[in-house]
Amino acid sequence: MEFPRKLLEALRQAQRIAALTGAGVSQESGLRTFREAQDGLWAQYRPEDLATPQAFQRNPKLVWDWYAWRRERVYQAKPNPAHYALAELARLVPHFTLITQNVDGLHQAAGSPNVIELHGNIRRVRCSVCGQVYTQWEQHAEEVPRCRSCNGLLRPDVVWFGENLPPAELEAAFEAARTCELFFSIGTSGVVQPAASLAYLARREGARIVEINAEATPLTPFADFAFQGKAGVILPALVQAAFFNPPH
Ligand code: APR
Repeated sequence: MEFPRKLLEALRQAQRIAALTGAGVSQESGLRTFREAQDGLWAQYRPEDLATPQAFQRNPKLVWDWYAWRRERVYQAKPNPAHYALAELARLVPHFTLITQNVDGLHQAAGSPNVIELHGNIRRVRCSVCGQVYTQWEQHAEEVPRCRSCNGLLRPDVVWFGENLPPAELEAAFEAARTCELFFSIGTSGVVQPAASLAYLARREGARIVEINAEATPLTPFADFAFQGKAGVILPALVQAAFFNPPH
């Protein structure tokens, strides 16, 4: 795979790089993206109808069971070459910030340090009343588990539509976008705010934009370098070309 010389040089010389990932980075790990249809018994539901506080209020068990189903698939999923390439970049670039919209924890599983999780993590749950976070909990088939402290219903520790993103993570993501020289947008349709605004902020501050996505997105026309295809193929090839094949 050929890459523009300008990009390879920019990658080699960059001191500060930020990368935003979306569901497309986990697609080759077998996890479906948000815009792909759901399958099985969940095919009749749209994520937008389940990943909301109102849906949980109305039917906590249904929402809890959907996340339990997704969590099972996350536990079975393995990081793919895209995750490993990003973990490699953290070792090769002086200041590399990885920001993800994904809740599957696969970046951490691949060895990426200090992952900024904008939308939380499905492997954690939290009390819907007092906010206490749990990484382990009693699982009863018939009812939604409750908080050991206040007996409130537990819910996935993820950001639902209409909810605010964790302020510390959001500020860290904006700071990384503002200060980077190269901003990567990988495997995201770039339609959900505020994550989708990070690339434009980086661009306004003078960063060059690299997009790697299976299809064109609203960001594509603004990208200095845009590659359409699989992140698990393109990213490893790019890291290899930039850092392991010095210019002849
Ligand atoms: N490699 C690269 N890109 C891929 C791959 C792949 N193997 N497979 C799919 N894609 C692309 C798709 O073309 C799509 O543009 O990844 C993108 C995934 O987009 P979405 O499904 O919209 O996922 P994402 O952008 O992460 O959604 C953002 O929206 O639903 C909410 O909170 C949820 O975090 C999610 C947010």
